[in-house]
Amino acid sequence: MALWKDTLTDNDKKLIFSLFSRHISKGQTKTMRAAHLDFIETRRKGIGFTDGLFGRKIIDCFTSAGCFNVGRGNPEIIKALNEALKTYDIGTNLLQSNVKKEFIKKLASVAPGDCNQVIFASGGGDAIDCAIKLARGATGRKKIIAMKKAYHGHTGYSLSANGKDYYRHLFEPLEPNFVFVQFGDLDAIRQVAGIDTAAIILEPVQGEGGIFVGDDYYLKSLRTICNQFGIMLIFDEIQTGFGRTGRMFASQHSGVVPDIMTLAKSISGGLFPNAVVMYRNIPLLTQYVKSNPEFHQSITGGSDIGCAVGIAVIDYIVKNRLWENAESMGNIIMEGLLSIQHENPDIIKEIRGRGLMIGVEYTHEYMGALMADSLARHGIFAVYSGNQPQVMRFMVPITIHEQEVQTMLNIIRKAIVTMRMYMPLTKPLSKIPLLKKLLDDIHVQIAVFDIIRYFEDILGITKRNYSKEA
Ligand SMILES: Cc1ncc(COP(=O)(O)O)c(C=O)c1O
Repeated sequence: MALWKDTLTDNDKKLIFSLFSRHISKGQTKTMRAAHLDFIETRRKGIGFTDGLFGRKIIDCFTSAGCFNVGRGNPEIIKALNEALKTYDIGTNLLQSNVKKEFIKKLASVAPGDCNQVIFASGGGDAIDCAIKLARGATGRKKIIAMKKAYHGHTGYSLSANGKDYYRHLFEPLEPNFVFVQFGDLDAIRQVAGIDTAAIILEPVQGEGGIFVGDDYYLKSLRTICNQFGIMLIFDEIQTGFGRTGRMFASQHSGVVPDIMTLAKSISGGLFPNAVVMYRNIPLLTQYVKSNPEFHQSITGGSDIGCAVGIAVIDYIVKNRLWENAESMGNIIMEGLLSIQHENPDIIKEIRGRGLMIGVEYTHEYMGALMADSLARHGIFAVYSGNQPQVMRFMVPITIHEQEVQTMLNIIRKAIVTMRMYMPLTKPLSKIPLLKKLLDDIHVQIAVFDIIRYFEDILGITKRNYSKEA
């Protein structure tokens, strides 16, 4: 099968699913299919992609949690990548190059305050590992304060900083000296922070944890506590960075400059992987890096091609002032969602977020899965927060236009109508504690969805419905 093939035959589709199931994950293939999320991404454009399975256009409200800020398949970034390929490969990680220099200059030009020093990493988790190593190495201290429900990745230190048992329990014991506090709770921080603490690490807007915005007072107070005890303040801006929340970086809402900041995902427009750790130009950190130049290494991080793409991404965001679009479109979506909440108080408990990082909290946990399924049926790909299944994340590309926003809101309205069809059954069951537990159980949800999908496929319902929209 040609790699670039956009139109898939029934045989292609069968082969894709069977090979994924056999060689990648049977469980994942089954789960995605059960919830109508068995999209096959073919053409990617603007705020979405074409589903090769049924030929429908899908709005991407997941964007791998913030990878496609500049839009999917952005022609300007693709052009930069094509140009780069004429001259560069990944480059040699020990050597310097003009394109690396230009990228570092670009990053420094948009960085908050003096947080303008750069270490390359191969991905988000690797950047978090590097940030924690830097904080521990420079301060000579061990304790790391992280947030409950936080998500920082699956590598060594990043997994240890993850605030949910679900990700951790298979690998315990993880790194010692990680202490967890509730996001937003300053008293809890004050109880555990001290001169033995190397770093406080957090996402300025908690993503996987359920979209909780760290307000200005909270972030400023963290800065004060860190200053008081010589603690490194680490902001994980892997989801929040590059315009997503209405500023280039989320820290810039409050004016708080972190000592260390991690960036990945949209750094390369979703076209070529890259990641960085940025840190303040202060002697404690610069001296440490100078004395230990090889304390963190990556062969692919900071590759020449990644840097060329990164330059184009920053240029594109700055030229189009995309953070302003994130803020204004985010406000319209918020307003629309608030009115949907008003019409459906039994389903939506709260709407929160900043810019185009928006969370919808349902009144019951099981509704996260039901809504993912209902949205997919109507053409939106959205998934709930991994660390908070009751909250659906909406993180559409920040290039979105007002007309597309209205389409998105209309689909959400339709999805709620579809979801209501399940409610005569789920509502009474959710009042009985044991049955509610079953409803919230992901394995039960998959099993039930799987049966429904099985019959829909046999009766040709899925194909008939989706073909109408294609
Ligand atoms: C906030 C945050 N930190 C870290 C990571 C880990 O990034 P990666 O998957 O590139 O290792 C993610 C990925 O989802 C993330 O959202």
